[in-house]
Amino acid sequence: MENKSFFIKSYGCQMNEYDSEKIASILQKDGYMNTGDVSNADLIVFNTCNIREKAAQKVYSDIGRVTKKDDSKTIALVGCVAQAENDEIFRKNKNVDIVLGPQSYHLLPKMIDVYKKNKEKKINTEFIINEKFDFVHEDKSPKGVSSYVTIQEGCDKFCAFCVVPFTRGPEYSRSIKSIIDESKSLIDRGSKEIVLLGQNVNAYNYKDEKNIVYNISKLIDEVSKLDNIKRIRYTTSHPNNMDLELIKLHGSNEKLMPFLHLPVQSGSNEILKKMNRKYNVDEYKKITDQLKFYKPNIEISSDFIVGFPGETNNDFESTLDLVEYVKFKQSYSFIYSERPGTKAAKISDHTPKDEKKLRLNVLQKKLEDIQLEFNKSFCNKNITNVLIENQSQSNPEYFFGRSIYSQPVYVRAKRVSIGDVIPISIETCNHKSLYGTIFH
Ligand code: SAH
Ligand code: SF4
Ligand code: F3S
Repeated sequence: MENKSFFIKSYGCQMNEYDSEKIASILQKDGYMNTGDVSNADLIVFNTCNIREKAAQKVYSDIGRVTKKDDSKTIALVGCVAQAENDEIFRKNKNVDIVLGPQSYHLLPKMIDVYKKNKEKKINTEFIINEKFDFVHEDKSPKGVSSYVTIQEGCDKFCAFCVVPFTRGPEYSRSIKSIIDESKSLIDRGSKEIVLLGQNVNAYNYKDEKNIVYNISKLIDEVSKLDNIKRIRYTTSHPNNMDLELIKLHGSNEKLMPFLHLPVQSGSNEILKKMNRKYNVDEYKKITDQLKFYKPNIEISSDFIVGFPGETNNDFESTLDLVEYVKFKQSYSFIYSERPGTKAAKISDHTPKDEKKLRLNVLQKKLEDIQLEFNKSFCNKNITNVLIENQSQSNPEYFFGRSIYSQPVYVRAKRVSIGDVIPISIETCNHKSLYGTIFH
């Protein structure tokens, strides 16, 4: 067989990373070897993200750095920028040979063959998502302690700022059988924690051949029955799909971790309305209150957009108030980025960039302070449940694990079994991580 090598880079969310793993495994099945080095790969795959302008631009600067002296290198631009920009990409950069949307990456080997035969640029941005899941190649390699499984893709919600409904298409729920099969296979190969993924993961809705309807709660219950599974998480949830059944499940299913990522975006009712989020601040607070009622030790994290068109200082203050109320323990916050084709791109925006940066700094400082205070509350205490994920490569006396709240925990130890849940004495911390030793 011909010697073929590839290099793949992910630019996006967890689903983008999951897709990259699948692409890598499809290519390996086709005889390609994964090389970590872009300079000596025959095939370079850029798995792109279009969520903010910066992410979308990054890929073009990376392509610019690839020297393509002859025709021996093939460059494939796949993922959400591919979907959004389509054949425009060939005009923007003549080095790109193949453009492939996120729902049809299983076609990549075939497209490469055709491209190599005809030397004609190839493109596919069809939404053939069910085919993609049929195609997902079962790889047999050992897996990490924590693994993603996509259960749902796409979005019908059309928030005014967001490209996802355009890049990932309409909501689609994967069959329960293929989710269970993949989860089992991951657990058999070493995974202890399954993270169920979806752009609107809690909108999951699948009817099987016996007409049994599975929502996310029923699916989580099924996954939690699998032998040897220790932890389940799911992300990303939309507040409007947090029904009471799912909220209560946090109180009853012990495998489900007491940590939920529930993006709110803004704490101002005016802005939420303009964003088309379809909930208000009180409704959001009610969900977090109910979660805390049914699972008193649950913690919430979130996403925020600062400087959405028309956001006033008062609106921003309301976001700070909400942060104070919920006390989010770990969050992502971004300055609003105008995306072509979205509704918000048509709203005039008068807030100067510097003002937006200032607001972002204030918000991030507040979030960081809360996170630090939370992490400090673990100092000089023993926590019982750190799932050990791996051993540090650079310093073998350190192991890396995660708490139930997904806090990174660095453990100084001579020996620990990867995949075990162990008690740790926390000695120090910063706002991001905890540090400690095994508690005997
Ligand atoms: N489905 C999830 C979010 C997916 S996108 C939800 O509804 O919450 C991930 C995050 O990127 C969003 O939560 C949002 O905070 C951010 N984001 C999306 N579009 C953006 C834009 N145009 N500018 C800045 N941030 C954006
Ligand atoms: Fe984007 Fe809104 Fe859909 Fe989330 S719910 S993916 S923010 S459109
Ligand atoms: Fe980016 Fe697409 Fe994910 S736009 S955030 S890679 S769904």
